[in-house]
Amino acid sequence: MATIEHTPRGNWNTKLGFILAAAGSAVGLGNIWRFPTVMADNGGAAFLFIYALLVLIIGYPVMVAEMSIGRRTEKNPVGAFKALTKNKLFIVAGFWCVLCGIVILSYYVIIAGWTISYFFEQIFHYAGWQEWAGWVADTDNGWLNAGVAILFMGRTISVILGGVSDGIERAVKLLMPLLVVIIVVLIVYVLFQPGAGVGLKEYLVPDFSAITPDLLLAAMGQAFFSLSLGMGALITYGSYLSKRENIPEAAGYVTGFDVGIAFLAGLLVMPTIYMAQAQGLVIFDEDGNLVAGAALIFQVLPELFHEMGGLIGLFFGATFFFLLSIAALTSSISLLEVPTSYAIDEHGIRRKSAALIIGGIITLISLVIAFDTSLIDTLDFIFSDVGLPLGGFVICIFLAYFWKTENARLELREGFADIDSHWFWPVWKIFIQYICPILIGLILVTTIWGIFR
Ligand code: PFF
Repeated sequence: MATIEHTPRGNWNTKLGFILAAAGSAVGLGNIWRFPTVMADNGGAAFLFIYALLVLIIGYPVMVAEMSIGRRTEKNPVGAFKALTKNKLFIVAGFWCVLCGIVILSYYVIIAGWTISYFFEQIFHYAGWQEWAGWVADTDNGWLNAGVAILFMGRTISVILGGVSDGIERAVKLLMPLLVVIIVVLIVYVLFQPGAGVGLKEYLVPDFSAITPDLLLAAMGQAFFSLSLGMGALITYGSYLSKRENIPEAAGYVTGFDVGIAFLAGLLVMPTIYMAQAQGLVIFDEDGNLVAGAALIFQVLPELFHEMGGLIGLFFGATFFFLLSIAALTSSISLLEVPTSYAIDEHGIRRKSAALIIGGIITLISLVIAFDTSLIDTLDFIFSDVGLPLGGFVICIFLAYFWKTENARLELREGFADIDSHWFWPVWKIFIQYICPILIGLILVTTIWGIFR
């Protein structure tokens, strides 16, 4: 096996620390903004079914792959590929990962900025300052989008400056459970509202005729986005992971946690969409397309909080958007950490300069998006729905045929001593060698073929 040069690296403080940080990366806007929006656009329950299936058969195996490559090499994606193979093609793949991180973060901060805007919308609405509430709720206001995105990006950069483990562990341990509690209480409330039953049915009773190649691509993209896969975020986080940890077990917790929160978010948002529709809000146009597009949840959820009314509405509304912004922060940190650790490891740039330069470039790109939010859908399609699965495909091929599963086994054995006799090993190996790359490849090829035909 090739020897790898290791630079001194920080480590997660505790076993729980890594799981919390990886879960913090996974749980974010992907669960609460992207999942319900993409689902509402793609046939409700049928989407949920395919999504859950793809998480299990593609997402989880790829997560184990990323974490083991990261821990073995202690590097960013470019450095990791370089350390384990001489094949130059994988360096291109590493750059693709870094580019995905940069572009995804540049629109992620716009949506994250909206969580800040809507936190204030709740307060202004309660105070009776309707003009201010209306102003701050305008997601088409480029200057406002730019302002809140800069605020959010500044916060992300400031966390990255201090190294990844500080703060994340605490935020996730304390605030994420609170977010879950708030969502559960809101679900109970919303289910008693008129119109909610229709949304619940849309969410839980699948119409399998709605399954199309587009739905498959959307569900696969969502699985990668939500689990933070395909761009080496978990290679990078795995690089700080101690040899004592059991990777398949950690990946299992992270996947379970992420899917659980997405499921709850759907249980809240789908009924709320139909409740808002029953109250006269136009959600779908005549062709069944979403009117609000990316802004969907920022249209329907405030409606729910206003409906609750008074101090209770304010409490739930403001707390919800505050916690959502923290969930977004623990994810945006991982998005920025990929290009930052690349600059540190590969170019010897100091963490502070790397975070400031790369954060600055991403902020500039996000300013363009702030003034034309329709770019979000296009970039999200190219870099998340197609780009992340493409990265996942390359990671499977790399692990199975270049680094070799045998070497992965040696790495996984650290922290998982009885791997050789465990059913996990032969099953995971088949998934990484055959099932995952073939499925990802098939879904990508059929949909891209469909677009250009
Ligand atoms: N998983 C994050 C979310 O659901 O909001 C977004 C994300 C983070 C995607 C890190 C990709 C990534 F590498």
